[in-house]
Amino acid sequence: MLVHIGRLINKKMVGKYAVPAFNTSNLETTQGIIRAAVAQKAPVIVQTSVGTIEYAGIEEIAAIIKAEAREVDVPIALHQDHCKDFDLIKKLIAVGYSSVMVDASALDYKENVKLTKAVVAYAHKRGVWVQAELGRLLGNEDWQTVKSGDDLMTDPKQAAKFVQETGVDTLAVAVGSFHGIPVNPQIRKILTTLKEHIDLHRLKLIHEHVKIPLVLHGASGVPDHQMVAAIKNGVAVFNIDTDLRVAFNKSLRKNIKDNPQIYDPRKLLRPATDGLQKMAEQKLKLLKANNKAKLIIKKPTL
Ligand code: G3H
Ligand code: 13P
Ligand code: ZN
Repeated sequence: MLVHIGRLINKKMVGKYAVPAFNTSNLETTQGIIRAAVAQKAPVIVQTSVGTIEYAGIEEIAAIIKAEAREVDVPIALHQDHCKDFDLIKKLIAVGYSSVMVDASALDYKENVKLTKAVVAYAHKRGVWVQAELGRLLGNEDWQTVKSGDDLMTDPKQAAKFVQETGVDTLAVAVGSFHGIPVNPQIRKILTTLKEHIDLHRLKLIHEHVKIPLVLHGASGVPDHQMVAAIKNGVAVFNIDTDLRVAFNKSLRKNIKDNPQIYDPRKLLRPATDGLQKMAEQKLKLLKANNKAKLIIKKPTL
């Protein structure tokens, strides 16, 4: 069932278990994610990036997610990942997203507050949650410019001020994780080391200062024990994209190699969807989201 994100994320769960926000990009990745949620009786957030919106179209991808979600009896919430375009956010709200991320983290503090506040005012009027980001979480291209991680990390006191000033519902924090897997092997080595050393002390301080659920982006490649420790320190949502993409890719390539005679796209893609589902199920179990579908508060579905 398609539900508001507020039914999945609440103060009671914080510290006990977390919900993954998996990025989808098409029918197959959506099916893999939702089948994993069904198999594990778990709540799940399905999210789209701006890149996916450009690739698939807003109406198209939203319709796929909503239709797949409505066919199952586990709670699925629809969320927009990193977005700095207010006009696009308005369109997403109009098509039924129950949560949007306004990512103004590349701007200075004042500008971040200004845009985030404006989005919160608009979204809350329509019953939609807003996630924002403080500190900088870099992506595949831009993260190579990093000299020292410290100045990019979320400051706990500033985070408390930011939440109070903006009224956001969830906060994405920068505590050492990064998006994606860099192609350059040397950079990849540095990234892996960084992800293995999530700044749990900083996370603990942020959790003490900030009373809303925290979101950890760039969760692919973060070691399992760090993920578990992050849950204890206030992370309620883990954004996971790359690990699913890698699983999809591996299964697809193997299928093509093993079965060169296959030309039906459905037969080519089915094992890839299954591979992605398997990875999504592992993540649901790791976050202890399995068997939590029944705990979701009863309110009307969307
Ligand atoms: O936040 C980053 C996500 O992994 C989205 O990536 O822009 O390639 O869809 P994308
Ligand atoms: P990964 O690709 O590193 O899992 O990051 C995903 C993410 O943070 C999406 O917002
Ligand atoms: Zn992210």
